[in-house]
Amino acid sequence: MSSTSENTFQAIVSHAKEYGFVFPSSEIYDGLSAVYDYGPYGSELKKNIRDHWWKSMTQLHENIVGIDAAIFMHPTTWKASGHVDNFSDPLIDNKDSKKRYRVDHLIEAHAEKLALAGDKEGEFDLLKNMDELLKADDFVGLKQLIEDNKIVCSVSGTGNWTEIRQFNLMFATEFGAIASDNPEDNKVYLRPETAQGIFVNFLNVQKTARMKIPFGIAQTGKAFRNEIVARQFIFRMREFEQMEMQFFVRPGTQGHWYQYWKEARLKWHTDLGISAAKYRYHDHVKLAHYAKEACDIEFEFPFGFKEVEGIHSRSDFDLTQHQLYSKKKIQYYDNDIDETTGKAFGNYVPYVVETSIGLDRMFLLVLSHAYEEETIQKEDGTSDSRVVLHIPPVIAPNKLAILPLTKKDGLPEIARELMDECKPYFKCFYEEKDAIGKRYRRQDAIGTPFCVTIDHQTKEDQTITIRYRDSMLQERISLSMVKSLVLAAIQ
Ligand code: GAP
Repeated sequence: MSSTSENTFQAIVSHAKEYGFVFPSSEIYDGLSAVYDYGPYGSELKKNIRDHWWKSMTQLHENIVGIDAAIFMHPTTWKASGHVDNFSDPLIDNKDSKKRYRVDHLIEAHAEKLALAGDKEGEFDLLKNMDELLKADDFVGLKQLIEDNKIVCSVSGTGNWTEIRQFNLMFATEFGAIASDNPEDNKVYLRPETAQGIFVNFLNVQKTARMKIPFGIAQTGKAFRNEIVARQFIFRMREFEQMEMQFFVRPGTQGHWYQYWKEARLKWHTDLGISAAKYRYHDHVKLAHYAKEACDIEFEFPFGFKEVEGIHSRSDFDLTQHQLYSKKKIQYYDNDIDETTGKAFGNYVPYVVETSIGLDRMFLLVLSHAYEEETIQKEDGTSDSRVVLHIPPVIAPNKLAILPLTKKDGLPEIARELMDECKPYFKCFYEEKDAIGKRYRRQDAIGTPFCVTIDHQTKEDQTITIRYRDSMLQERISLSMVKSLVLAAIQ
């Protein structure tokens, strides 16, 4: 990361704390690594992102319904899904510093250094070799690659490495109060993805909501991963939230739906008003154990292009595995007519295309997109500055700030009336204290798209001043138009 990007990133992290978006977890005890709490504006923003995603999936798609499954699941779920055997990352330790690295992160950091030094070809070759070795699970080859490239530990500066080994990322805990000689008997996992809650409920949902293929099941909720190295603030956490949708399709049509969801999901991002130039697709070379085809939607964070969402063609892997382990039939009867045979498609295990986005990662994306330290040139030739969050209005924590110019002369009463009119429809903020400029700056810093000021003229002609966050333009409009103007901007 260049020093400017590093500074921007640090400024975003500090801003998030100072303005009540994100706090380190249990901070009075010095925090807990890679676990964070969301403050007043953060929890509001997070909820708005979740609601916006939920609406786009379950309200705007008539063939997608939602569920809310438990975090704890029967332990066999994770045996069947392959997570017990395969959900691991290769790690390596530096013997001198004892610092632990995820192998792909260690190599990627070196590739980034090569790129910064202008060696684009070296970067390309290194990443290509790494992808191939990871795909083949060739740990000897990966260690050789680290040694050949003279990759050293950032703390000790040495290349004194252990062998590479696998590390399972699932957290386990004990269930119930019954003691057992074998701790495995009571072992349950904290789910590492929400998707399995959808798969095991496939028949419950299909039957009760009378869904016909193709259809989707959406879910948001917490997931837990014991990440080897958690870093970059809320980008990689040990407790985080996912927004996932499994789309069940007829075998043979998965290619079409994979393309469909790849495009639909990118459009969801750019429809928020975030520039398409900040996004790119990254096709996976090393596929997760369940995937047949997969890509990431990457966003250009201050620390470079990184994954924010995954689109995965999961075939019939998960439902077939659950069928096998539960010994229950998990199939769908398709009574549509197959034109080639003239008969109904009949019984089959549906194929699945999954869209999976991290809510916390999307939150960081929104902050990265929104944060600006702006210099304002004034008419008298002097300049001023402000920190503003250009959060898309539909997800902004507060939509409208209502600010009476003074605390007297009946202005607060008019402002309170406007509050009462608007607050059932969207989140409003009321403030009387401090100079108006100061109040505007505070709203800029938390991303409130609209501020209205009630002044003495309001009493005479029922007009107010509305100030637009991004342009800072101000205009006088009728008091009676405020609610509809804000509503139109947040649809
Ligand atoms: N069900 C598929 C699945 O879980 P994934 O690519 O492992 O796929 C999906 O995760 C998304 O979840 C990622 O694109 C990312 O946004 C988010 N995510 C994964 N691990 C995370 C972590 N440790 N912290 C924050 N978000 C994470």
